[in-house]
Amino acid sequence: MSERVIGEHSKGGGLQHFWMPKGSPQIPRIARGEGMYVWDEQGNRYMDCTSGPVVVNLGHSNPRVLEAMRRQAEKICYSYPTGFESEANTELANLLTAEAGEGFDRAFFVSSGSEAMEKCLEFSRLFAISRGQSSRYKLISRNPSYHGSSLGAMGLNGDSANSPMAPMLHPSIQIPAPLSYRQPAGYNRDSYARRCAECLEEAILEAGPETVLAYVMEPVMGLTGGAQYAPDFYYTRVREICDQYGVLLIYDEVISGAGRTGRFLASHWWPRGRPDLVTFAKGIGGGYYPLGGFLAPDAMVDAVVAAGGFHLGHTYKASPLACAVGLAVLQELKEQDLMSRALEQGEYLRKRLVSLQPSISILGDVRGIGQLNAIELVSDQATKARMSTSLDVQEEIKRLGMKEGLLIYARRTSFGEFGDWLMMTPPLIATREDIDVLVERLEKVLRTYQDDLAARGFLD
Ligand SMILES: Cc1ncc(COP(=O)(O)O)c(C=O)c1O
Repeated sequence: MSERVIGEHSKGGGLQHFWMPKGSPQIPRIARGEGMYVWDEQGNRYMDCTSGPVVVNLGHSNPRVLEAMRRQAEKICYSYPTGFESEANTELANLLTAEAGEGFDRAFFVSSGSEAMEKCLEFSRLFAISRGQSSRYKLISRNPSYHGSSLGAMGLNGDSANSPMAPMLHPSIQIPAPLSYRQPAGYNRDSYARRCAECLEEAILEAGPETVLAYVMEPVMGLTGGAQYAPDFYYTRVREICDQYGVLLIYDEVISGAGRTGRFLASHWWPRGRPDLVTFAKGIGGGYYPLGGFLAPDAMVDAVVAAGGFHLGHTYKASPLACAVGLAVLQELKEQDLMSRALEQGEYLRKRLVSLQPSISILGDVRGIGQLNAIELVSDQATKARMSTSLDVQEEIKRLGMKEGLLIYARRTSFGEFGDWLMMTPPLIATREDIDVLVERLEKVLRTYQDDLAARGFLD
């Protein structure tokens, strides 16, 4: 197998994820975390400027969540939902559906984003059968996109055709995602988004509308699009097309949900594009305990239940401990008014980053909404030329960041076809002072990297 296939995101990536008996010489060991910071065993302190992989929305060691965990653990950690419901379970469902609003009336809980997507797809299929449409099974998703690493979810991922797993997947029909920074020749942001919406209709017609089950998209792109999102009309148009052909619209809000964009769901930014189903994970458990799931309207759940029910789940579905954690995370999110803070500080972060662009030529794009942001690195600002794919940007920038006390999460997808970006997704607790520290450290990292790339002849 070629290096290109294995080393899609990073040449060094992967090895450190296999634990060795004596530990890995490559990376430091984590000792503890508090708020915006984590410490390694050598006592080095790092600011977590991406909330890990966009998960630690409340920061580390939040006292309320730790206390809720302890209290629930003392009562009972595990019970299976076929026998009992738990207080944590129902209270979380109540709060979650109240925050999500009308049309998101029921919550199904699992343990990760990948599982959430699997269950949501299976539920969609059962719903189609319940209304006499068993011919519907095809899925449409976007390129680039990411929906998980289980085999079902992987079939939706934008680069699934290039995956070494490709022969084992059920690939979705893929249409282009409405990228906001770089469009094919002859398009701008608006005209490309319009074209991308047309592609959805064309894909449905080509597949045969009666065979298409759902269109799955991230309303604000996560790791494989680096916080790019479409103009408002795209969401409205997509909803219209799905309605016209009876196709379900699923928003993957594993990253964009739980207040990350400054609204509880990113869907709330586009009420005229409201999805039928929404998946969530990451920020709901906040990194304290694995938790994910999907939200559905009463009518859909009732239809599936009437047709025989939805019995597909996992052993840890709706575990009381996970739900107690999720409940405490949501209570903290609300009571600390962290969504307002995400809006305010996210805007401040983008402004500060934009102010660096005139003097840092590798800083190509600054984008995002709330605290779901990214910066894209380029070898030429004017032409938006991508970084050379022979560079291991992810590893190099991570190392430089750690030297400056900053944990950076750089991403590249489809072998660099769409560019290189750094997620800028601090915990939602970040204050203005935290953002100042973040930007100060990041500026040093970017300047050092720029000088280094110039010296190695990598800049245009
Ligand atoms: C948009 C999106 N969907 C689904 C997933 C899969 O979530 P998990 O890693 O919890 O399985 C991710 C993970 O990064 C994601 O970003």
